[in-house]
Amino acid sequence: MDRPGETTHFGFQDVPLGDKQTLVNEVFRSVASRYDLMNDLMSGGLHRVWKDIMINTLNPPRSDARFALLDVAGGTGDIAFRAAKAAGAGFRATVCDINLDMLIVGRERAVKRHLDDRVAFVEGNAEALAFPDRAFDGYTIAFGIRNVPRIDLALGEAFRVLRPGGRFLCLEFSTVDVPGLDRLYDLFSFNVIPELGRVVTGDAESYRYLVESIRKFPRPNAFAEMIRAAGFSRVNWRVLSGGIVALHSGWRL
Ligand SMILES: C[S@@+](CC[C@H](N)C(=O)[O-])C[C@H]1O[C@@H](n2cnc3c(N)ncnc32)[C@H](O)[C@@H]1O
Repeated sequence: MDRPGETTHFGFQDVPLGDKQTLVNEVFRSVASRYDLMNDLMSGGLHRVWKDIMINTLNPPRSDARFALLDVAGGTGDIAFRAAKAAGAGFRATVCDINLDMLIVGRERAVKRHLDDRVAFVEGNAEALAFPDRAFDGYTIAFGIRNVPRIDLALGEAFRVLRPGGRFLCLEFSTVDVPGLDRLYDLFSFNVIPELGRVVTGDAESYRYLVESIRKFPRPNAFAEMIRAAGFSRVNWRVLSGGIVALHSGWRL
């Protein structure tokens, strides 16, 4: 899996490919306990709307038909909880994340919501999932893929673990192209968010990374090409909130 000599982005820095995951893990270790509060503060609650749109698109069965969801980079469990609330009795979710600090917060939240029997938390790397082939009906990844050093490997794994007919959905920050809104968004992102991070978590740098990593993520058409290259069919995307976020979709057929 090592690709000696290759570099990648960690925010605006170029770093050896093999170093990125350690740096990313430090970011989420540092912010885990305040992660959910910060999401609300940074997005004015909008992340809830984006996540609900993702769940509506996933449309898990409301009946007791079996449906197994894998939520990768699932952190504190938001996507899995929302899906469980929308779905029927046959729904089970596995939240997989590389960061134990995020998973610990997620497990506590699951117990509080009485969802711990339907939502499991598993430590794992999106690039090398410890699940059998064709094990899941749906694969979701929300605000996670841009943190993964080798996105092509993660997409290949998503394809592998989905059953034929299974759906891949990825929610990720995108590119704001609306004149006027773009400058406002830049101002907010580079000035307000790191300062909020400093006040709420005592860590401005982690939030600077999060903002910079958004700018380095491929545009929707380029990312859609990567999803196709992993083997997915009927690949498309939908831009939300003027391009702040894009919801990508593909099917394993
Ligand atoms: C911005 S959080 C998103 C959490 C959650 N999906 C949400 O929408 O609230 C990004 C998550 O990606 C996880 N992550 C980063 N690299 C990963 C990898 N290689 N494999 C699995 N998870 C990873 C981080 O630990 C972190 O929990």
